[in-house]
Amino acid sequence: MDLLMCAPCIFGVEGILGNELRRMEAQEVSPQNGRVLFKGGPEILARANIGSRYAERIQVVMGQFNAFSFEELFDKVRALPWERFIGKSDRFPVKGWALESKLHSIPDCQSIIKKAVVERLKERYRIPWFEESGVLYQIQFTILKDEVTMLIDTSGPGLHKRGYRAKAGDAPIKETLAAAIADLARVRNAARVIDPCCGSGTLLIESLLAAMKIAPGIRREFAASAWKLVPSEIWRMERTRAREMERPKPDFMALGNDIDSDSIALTLENAKKAGVGNNITAVVANITDFKIDDDGGVVLCNPPYGERLLDVKAAGDIIRQMGNVFKPHPNWSYYIISPHDDFEELFGRPADKRRKLYNGMLKCQLYMYYR
Ligand SMILES: C[S@@+](CC[C@H](N)C(=O)[O-])C[C@H]1O[C@@H](n2cnc3c(N)ncnc32)[C@H](O)[C@@H]1O
Repeated sequence: MDLLMCAPCIFGVEGILGNELRRMEAQEVSPQNGRVLFKGGPEILARANIGSRYAERIQVVMGQFNAFSFEELFDKVRALPWERFIGKSDRFPVKGWALESKLHSIPDCQSIIKKAVVERLKERYRIPWFEESGVLYQIQFTILKDEVTMLIDTSGPGLHKRGYRAKAGDAPIKETLAAAIADLARVRNAARVIDPCCGSGTLLIESLLAAMKIAPGIRREFAASAWKLVPSEIWRMERTRAREMERPKPDFMALGNDIDSDSIALTLENAKKAGVGNNITAVVANITDFKIDDDGGVVLCNPPYGERLLDVKAAGDIIRQMGNVFKPHPNWSYYIISPHDDFEELFGRPADKRRKLYNGMLKCQLYMYYR
């Protein structure tokens, strides 16, 4: 059975996510602003949940239509085949968002949608009320410029929750963004990867997981783990498939430095939990002590931004220091994510390439130096 699915993602990551879904054999992959639509059966649903490094979650698309009034919203939601997924005793809460649309009151949209789904299920199941004590089918809606997308979430907690980072430092980067940076830096082809401001180690751990093809969701459960539509046999097969794709790389090393000893301890603890503890070393060091050698490597860095960690001037000083110690060298490349518009000036060199990426709500650029 073919399902239309939606994978929301960080702005700027749509193309990378689209390629990843194609590699997973998803069909009709269509990257859009902040999301990728694709088709596939229940095995692709499970595969994308277990294996995607870049999707925030995987949703089933129930329908897409325009709605300019609550009546229209009600009728079009009621016309969708909710009984295909939601059983008589299942839970089906509703949440969502609306932007630049006539229907902009979220609580009103929520209650209209809930009523419409209840009406549909009452007709189909011929029962007057729903106890909602069973499996969770979280209904989600998005309304953008009057276009409604009705979805059911299959993931549960966001897919960035890999399970290895119970504790994080002060300003951790999201795992999905870290994975995208590792992809853009092509760490999979590198001999080693280094983060001189590693915090809780996210960039290094995501690099190791990607280089060794370890599926990020291999050790967690998903909302659809309990769905009838995706039998446990499919989950079992997809987990086995993911494990068979793993490629241990005993020689591939990640090196972390941070000025803060608690961060170093956290990096080592998180790496161990992620199953990549044997491929990482981390020691306390100031970025001013960073040395380049002929062995080379890929440097990934998410330095303090100023807003959250240090004041803006101190953050600028760190960028200047990076410019001094990250010297051009044929065996080294540097990928630094920063919201500072004057980054290149502070760093002392124009980037070979830049890429706009969002770190939470903060517009950043990934400054890439590889020549
Ligand atoms: C934005 S955080 C990095 C977060 C990290 N990417 C993560 O996912 O947890 C910046 C890190 O830079 C470290 N730092 C600040 N000044 C430093 C310096 N002079 N040398 C090395 N590390 C420094 C901080 O301790 C902090 O952990």
